[in-house]
Amino acid sequence: MSDEKTMMVDLSIPPAEEMVRVTFLPEGKTVEFAYGSLPYDHHGRPMSFLDVAENYGIFLDHACGGACACTTCHIWVKAGGDGISEADDEELDRLDMAADQQLTSRLGCQAVITGPGTYVVEIPSWNRNYVSEGKPLTLSQS
Ligand code: FES
Repeated sequence: MSDEKTMMVDLSIPPAEEMVRVTFLPEGKTVEFAYGSLPYDHHGRPMSFLDVAENYGIFLDHACGGACACTTCHIWVKAGGDGISEADDEELDRLDMAADQQLTSRLGCQAVITGPGTYVVEIPSWNRNYVSEGKPLTLSQS
């Protein structure tokens, strides 16, 4: 899937009934796809925000590969929380180690979209800075 598809989402109208719309802040990149149609990209849980990001070439760090063993995929959920899986004890324990933890904090590799709807998540600045400073994107690419 390409960035071109991310630019084709018409934000002036709500998504169709069966569609999932995900916006990644602060870049404001929005992707949309039919629920259940996204191929699993083998990063994190299927239909996790990391899975969605990887499918569309959106950078969301994931140093442990989506195994709930780091906090680099930390995201803040801004909208759509009711449609996202509950965090289990393992995720909550890991989140306790995350910088800038908020009430809406989740691990992008563990938080799963459970149905059609509109979702907005923000990638914290420290994660974005990691990229802008030119450090390795993931362990697998170093
Ligand atoms: S990528 Fe390591 S916990 Fe999500």
